[in-house]
Amino acid sequence: MSDTATAPKPKTGLPPRPKKAHWFFGNAWHLLKDPVSFLQESTAQFNGIFRVTSRILNLVVLTDPEYVKHVMQDNNKNYTKWFKNDVLELLLGRGLLTSEGDFWRKQRRLAQPAFHKERLARMADTMVRCTQQQIEKMERLADKQNVDISTQMMELTLNIVAGAMFSSEVKGAIDVVSHEIERTSVMATARFNNPLRLPIRFPTPANLAERKSIKNLDDVLNPIIRERRKSTEHFDDLLAMLMEAKDEDTGEQMSDQQLRDETMTIFLAGHETTALALSWLWYLLDKNPKEAQKLYDEIDQVTQGRTPALEDLQRMPFTKMVMDESLRLYPPAWLIMRENIDDDMFGDYVIPRGFTFMIPVFTIHRDPRLWDSPDAFMPERFSKENAKSHHRFAYFPFGGGPRQCIGNNFALMEMQLILVMMLQKFRFKVSKGFVPEMHPMVTLRMKNGMRMDIEKRA
Ligand code: HEM
Repeated sequence: MSDTATAPKPKTGLPPRPKKAHWFFGNAWHLLKDPVSFLQESTAQFNGIFRVTSRILNLVVLTDPEYVKHVMQDNNKNYTKWFKNDVLELLLGRGLLTSEGDFWRKQRRLAQPAFHKERLARMADTMVRCTQQQIEKMERLADKQNVDISTQMMELTLNIVAGAMFSSEVKGAIDVVSHEIERTSVMATARFNNPLRLPIRFPTPANLAERKSIKNLDDVLNPIIRERRKSTEHFDDLLAMLMEAKDEDTGEQMSDQQLRDETMTIFLAGHETTALALSWLWYLLDKNPKEAQKLYDEIDQVTQGRTPALEDLQRMPFTKMVMDESLRLYPPAWLIMRENIDDDMFGDYVIPRGFTFMIPVFTIHRDPRLWDSPDAFMPERFSKENAKSHHRFAYFPFGGGPRQCIGNNFALMEMQLILVMMLQKFRFKVSKGFVPEMHPMVTLRMKNGMRMDIEKRA
């Protein structure tokens, strides 16, 4: 054999890009105009990796689960998050979602115990109480048509996360937080969509409004944190857990600023995603009456109409399968972004450092190479026997590796309790003539909400 035959294969440089391109804006035009179709078509065209380019954009899209695993898990230290949003920075500071490196690692170690399953069990009462209140409110809307169910879900999940964070005696604070967090998350999303908007430090009317909202939040959160420090009373909520958390090696605890940043982060990361997941789930149930009936049967049989207890949830495997399948078809965090610190290799391709990576969770969850009948709602995929057959990174609604969602168990417990309690009372039917449209922003929203008729169950 000659030397040439044994030598490593020459590297072929950057991955290919789709031919579909605007004369000036390149592929980015199609990505921005209709990201879901563009990403699906391109995924089918290439082998797990491709590039999207324009005069101002050059990014790598990964759709092979092995490549995703490489970035999110095996070689995760070579990747940073891709957050360039000054409103989010001002709002979240150095909270878990936006921080990096050693600082993030230390914070994650401190926060992790607060999200352990046993600790979360203590939050179940708050979840049940808030759901009961929302149900009472929705009962007044029952038999009304054309209700935007996504607004109801948003209100509910925000109340839950606020209630889990602080005990109920700060009710006034929860109202302010609910209102302002919703406003700031709308504003932060608007900024993602319009990169030409002036940075937040410029005193334009929109920027001043954003700064005012963040200040209102600080004015509520900072005194709560200060009061807690002084208090000798025992609290059993997320804030107390974060406040008491101690680094095992150094004995270090979170400063007031860190507590403020983590509180804000959990509010933002922990409500919209869950609300969207539920809104899409109600839609899927209406479109799949056979599966819906199986779900009603399981719920009725296990709970016999009583408020579900945590032990009941384990006895409802089909409910969990329905949630998993719904998170596959409509993953609220539909896109994950990263940037590489050093050059990295994917097959024969070498990606120089500083490249932006896009991991389209939605597209991978529906890739026909990974899933049979990918667009069909088939909860059986997630039965005990079937669940193990898919690649770890063919299904990852909560991400993976060290930066996996810290609130995944919180979210799943919350979703299941809400699902069970709501379906004990209601059936949700998509309103006549309404077709929900995906609106993929930072999260997988819907364009005009989710218009449904709420029917009381007999
Ligand atoms: C269905 C609901 C939820 C979904 C689909 C979801 C999804 C995700 C995903 C995909 C990530 C990783 C993003 C990345 O790698 O770039 C993430 C991170 C995070 N999520 Fe969630 N999430 C949900 C609910 C929650 C809840 C309820 C909380 C808090 C109570 C929460 C708090 C966080 C935090 C703090 C991070 C950052 C973790 C870190 O980087 O250390 N999430 N979430």
